[in-house]
Amino acid sequence: MKILIAASEALPFASTGGLADVAGSLPKALKAELGKDSDVRVVIPLYAPIRDKFASELELVCEMNVRLSWRNQYCGIWRTVRDGVTFYFIDNLYYFDRGTLYGCYDDGERFAFFSKCVLELMSAVRFYPDVLHANDWQTALTVIYLKRKYAHLDEYRSIRAVFTIHNIDYQGQFDFSILSDVFELPEWDRSVVEYNGVINLLKGAVVCADMVNTVSRTYAREILTDYYSSGLHHILREADAQGRLTGIVNGIDVDYYNPETDPDIAAHFSKDDLSGKAVDKAELEDVCGFVHAPDTPVISMVSRLASHKGFDLVRCVLEEIITTENVRFVLLGTGEAALEEFFRDLAARYPDRVAIRLEYNKALSKKFYAGADLFLMPSKSEPCGLSQMIASRYGTVPLVRECGGLADTIKPYNEYEETGNGFTFTNYNAHDMMNVIRYALRLYADHSKWDKLVKNAMNIDFSWNVSAKRYIDIYRSLK
Ligand code: GLC
Repeated sequence: MKILIAASEALPFASTGGLADVAGSLPKALKAELGKDSDVRVVIPLYAPIRDKFASELELVCEMNVRLSWRNQYCGIWRTVRDGVTFYFIDNLYYFDRGTLYGCYDDGERFAFFSKCVLELMSAVRFYPDVLHANDWQTALTVIYLKRKYAHLDEYRSIRAVFTIHNIDYQGQFDFSILSDVFELPEWDRSVVEYNGVINLLKGAVVCADMVNTVSRTYAREILTDYYSSGLHHILREADAQGRLTGIVNGIDVDYYNPETDPDIAAHFSKDDLSGKAVDKAELEDVCGFVHAPDTPVISMVSRLASHKGFDLVRCVLEEIITTENVRFVLLGTGEAALEEFFRDLAARYPDRVAIRLEYNKALSKKFYAGADLFLMPSKSEPCGLSQMIASRYGTVPLVRECGGLADTIKPYNEYEETGNGFTFTNYNAHDMMNVIRYALRLYADHSKWDKLVKNAMNIDFSWNVSAKRYIDIYRSLK
């Protein structure tokens, strides 16, 4: 079986969030599961930092020109192989040497060009996959182009398209004035991408794909409702009714996130010997400028500072929690200015209770996962969420709101049966969250119960084993 995965980011090459984790780790799991006779390849843009950092392992495959409407642009294709997976990189300095992955005025054009290159790459390297697997709005056009522009060509006719929605809130919406000028789509394709009077690339991919999936079972149901769908529920209900929508929970790369071997943490530990975790807690306290207090629980968050991650709730009750409980709060992440300001202010007023690092830093994040006791993730919506699984693997007990992938991966602690791997609350309500935090802190004081819970958390298998098989089942079903 031949699979080509198109994404706008993939670890370890380029990352701004969970998509990179998935595009970096799912292919490896697919390859391991499918074995020798399979060919799994990934394609992402060659952002300038990738060229600098991975120069020694990249090899130039070919150079060509790719047209996009009236444009005629250089496209270099580079490659490397990791864990049996070929990674291709689309090289064009004008589009991908920007000092940022997204947020440029011409993102639509940049990813339209990238998407066109993905289709052209197939003939340039003579790799026509059985399945083209695209992810999020940035590669939505690969699916649209495949079905609307290339499917009449013999080599492309039997390629099936899977489209994964990692977050429905980002849809790639543009004015119709650029339909043909930038997206190279003729008038008669207007209805394919039209939604609410504008171009909506995500909608176009949902309509065109042979199979659409999202990254947890619960989110796949949630996005059929207007509360979670960011306006797209009508389109998704139609796909669902046609049997073209499903949910597959993400796994994490359990080799990369491994407390027994992780080079980014001070001491290693396992569920059978947790002693190293205390050392990691001390290191986190150092990083945060706290004096050591092994018995004071630490709540951590590693998150994009975006309101849908539940920060309304945190803003509402965090000060009350840290002033009435013996607890510390630490946060790593960047994002909305108002949220950064809120946390800066709180950390300045309570320097021995609150510490923040306003940056996106993978290596540092491991210290925040490993060194804390509780991991807070009160998302308003959460397609899958990876942090709760990573925290769990590092024995940091997740406390989450029951939505999307959080509901599918975290089962609430039951103190009578000592089952469950975290704490949960249902309503998007700050005081519900606070009550559960208080309950967790009481339990923390009971060492034997807490240790049992930490072990429960570390016992869960969050690897790709099961989910990679489900993707393969889908790929096979599309023949
Ligand atoms: C997005 C979602 C997140 C998910 C990730 C990977 O970042 O917001 O919930 O885990 O994609 O699929």
